[in-house]
Amino acid sequence: MEAEKEYTGMPRIGDKAPEFKAVTTQGDIDFPNDYKGDWVILFSHPADFTPVCTSEFMTFASMEDKFLNANCKLVGLSIDGLYSHIAWLRSIKDKIEYKGMKNVEVKFPLIEDITMEVAKKYGMLQPNEDSTKAVRAVFVIDPEGIIRAIIYYPLSLGRNFDELYRVVIALQTADAFGVATPADWRPGDDVIVGPAGSCGTAEDRMQGKEDMECKDWYFCTKKLDKDIVLKRVLKK
Ligand code: BEZ
Repeated sequence: MEAEKEYTGMPRIGDKAPEFKAVTTQGDIDFPNDYKGDWVILFSHPADFTPVCTSEFMTFASMEDKFLNANCKLVGLSIDGLYSHIAWLRSIKDKIEYKGMKNVEVKFPLIEDITMEVAKKYGMLQPNEDSTKAVRAVFVIDPEGIIRAIIYYPLSLGRNFDELYRVVIALQTADAFGVATPADWRPGDDVIVGPAGSCGTAEDRMQGKEDMECKDWYFCTKKLDKDIVLKRVLKK
């Protein structure tokens, strides 16, 4: 029972990101303390020198500047050693061309986790999928070190990095403007306003007395200009 908990226990949305110190391809890190004040995506991949992971790393590294412009840093992890990481990243840069991407340099840190200490702490090992490889886990952590979103994919399925970017922008927009974001929201789309807290407010909303559009009293949206959103959440 304890062994199972060690592998499958995982932090939850709203929890403080579990702390760890680790060796990475960019030097040692103290997580999440080194990232205070920044958003960070901590993500795992199953193994170095594997094709789906290679396609993911090339895509994520090609988008790194976009994430940095949204004040979001990237940190990768797998249950491989530092020298394997270094050799794989060199191979990606020197040899792999994929979907128009080539000479891709992975500049974000990649954690060596041979002991599986971090993978176990974050529930990245899902033993019925694979007991020695991390699944494709994604933790979106805010500037206060709180886990704000968790996304898990199996070994065979490469992630959608546009979606991860959308998640970061949507979370920052929700925080900055006190709104929620509906299905498939992108900057420029209408946002959801908080629920009516009284019968009077519900009636006012349905009478059109507030600056919003209500499908019914519990489902009201308002406009939020794309430029206003981007000016607030992006550095430039
Ligand atoms: C891959 O990244 O290609 C992969 C890794 C582990 C298992 C299956 C696929």
